[in-house]
Amino acid sequence: MLEAPKTEMRQWELSSFEPSLPVTEKSNPITRDIDRANTEQIVHMLEECDKELFEEGWHTDSVYKRLKNPSVIQTMVDLAKNVESILKEPNSLIIMSGCGTSGRIAFLLATSFNSMLKDLQQKEICSYIIAGGDMALLTSQEAPEDSPILGADILDKAREGKKHVLFIGISCGLSAPFVAGQLDFCLNCDVFTPVLIGFNPVHMARAEPIRDWPLNFKRVAEKMMEKQDSQKAFILNPAVGPEAISGSSRMKGGSATKMLLETVLWAGLNAAYNRREITPAAMLAQIKMYERAHEFTYSQREKIAVLVEKAGLSLKGKGHVYYVGWKTLGIIGIIDASECVPTFGAGSEDIRGFIYNGFQEMKNEEGDLSSMGSQFRIDHRDFVNVILPTLSKHDTVIFLFTVNDDLNEVKELASQVKGKTSNLHALTHDCVGNSVPNQQWEISTKWSLNAISTGAHILKGKVYRNYMIDLKVTNSKLYRRAIHILQCFTSCSMVQCETALLKAVYDVEELTTEIISADVSKHTEVANTRDRVIPTALVMLQCGCSVKEARSRLNNYSVVRDAVDSLLSVK
Ligand code: F6P
Repeated sequence: MLEAPKTEMRQWELSSFEPSLPVTEKSNPITRDIDRANTEQIVHMLEECDKELFEEGWHTDSVYKRLKNPSVIQTMVDLAKNVESILKEPNSLIIMSGCGTSGRIAFLLATSFNSMLKDLQQKEICSYIIAGGDMALLTSQEAPEDSPILGADILDKAREGKKHVLFIGISCGLSAPFVAGQLDFCLNCDVFTPVLIGFNPVHMARAEPIRDWPLNFKRVAEKMMEKQDSQKAFILNPAVGPEAISGSSRMKGGSATKMLLETVLWAGLNAAYNRREITPAAMLAQIKMYERAHEFTYSQREKIAVLVEKAGLSLKGKGHVYYVGWKTLGIIGIIDASECVPTFGAGSEDIRGFIYNGFQEMKNEEGDLSSMGSQFRIDHRDFVNVILPTLSKHDTVIFLFTVNDDLNEVKELASQVKGKTSNLHALTHDCVGNSVPNQQWEISTKWSLNAISTGAHILKGKVYRNYMIDLKVTNSKLYRRAIHILQCFTSCSMVQCETALLKAVYDVEELTTEIISADVSKHTEVANTRDRVIPTALVMLQCGCSVKEARSRLNNYSVVRDAVDSLLSVK
């Protein structure tokens, strides 16, 4: 039995802490006052939150299994062995799938894994599915997340002609109907070995009924649990603690997904082609590498804080933040930028990512999407042609590269940017020892950029306490989260909160029977076209006023947090 150091049980682990919410939706006590913190404090709080990823936390009182728990490590070993055997089988496939960030991580890992297979002159057998298709890699497409049937149909097509498929469904909150549909499809078809990755215990999986579907996520997860003992299905679901910004699974959820899956996939590949044994010790050693990357990243906390400050100033001054990256670091930048729109209600131009060689480097399945609009122009050439001429001192530019990139190219582009602004910075990585550092470079860049974009939006006033008070209410999960946020800050009932939310969504003073009887999917479709929906509902509830008046009161404030703050103090 492995000995673990004892640490204090975290407040969120207590059964009395926000008992109605799963871990991934709880608010993290560490960041309760993050909206009032200065930049150094913001970075420090994020560091502490991310540190929870690696905590041992073996408490007899806790119901939670943490990442380093022996049973979690054993599931990783079993999974890696499955990866090894699938790599040796002819006509087999590994498919990873998810919504939002989970789908983006699936894409990143599938393309990286295929490159490694290619280098070993093996068949590239890994693929990804993201709800909303490749457009969702770069932009927020939240509605398809709600369809289990769509998820299953896409999976059915993807597995065509394959004899054995390892399907990895990722849903940090154990909540996405799209993924539930796929897992259930797998459970009913012998071709598949289904795997569920997420960060809640199964009893906290989402139990809300799904429209036009007989099951819910929790029921599917329970069915998988029944098959886990016979290794016909796997669930990898350590608790890593609540997100720094409540429910923002792009942060810890995305990082944990990347670390777990990378560890499992790479171990399987090394066993298949480099004769490395798959052992619990090897899994733990890999996790400790990530832990060191965490420590190293945040040892640069002062420098990260400077970038948070610069990015915050840019956003506050109506400027922009541009990530200009090379290879997979460019992809990490693009992913981080794309997430700000739904998370903070940001404009799509506020933070943008660019990658050297654009879609050729992305290697996404649908190829070049640049004709679909400005958000899809991600090549450095687009940055040079479109952004550079307009660049000003209000914008912050951050280069993302490693010593392995063509430094002459980096210099050349840097001198062009410097001609326009001195507000140019770089997140660079160099080699430590002889280990293959790619995974560490990527996770380190992810942590840094998550800190920069989150911190900058906090400084812009887009966060109240540790809630995304201005999120876009674009699917059923976000609809429920919005109602919960309203309940948290007012003493109103769920019905009152939902009524106010709907009035704000439809911009009406009275709800018609048509609105009341409409499905949540209709509400979220309309909400997608509106700004400041949650703040408007909050003002209505707090001040007992009409939608019109709430909107006009909000218009007196350019900063959402200030509006909420001052209006919540109204008796
Ligand atoms: O619906 C929006 C969202 O919360 C994204 O921000 C997130 O990346 C995605 O859903 C997926 O969530 P999960 O991994 O919990 O299914």
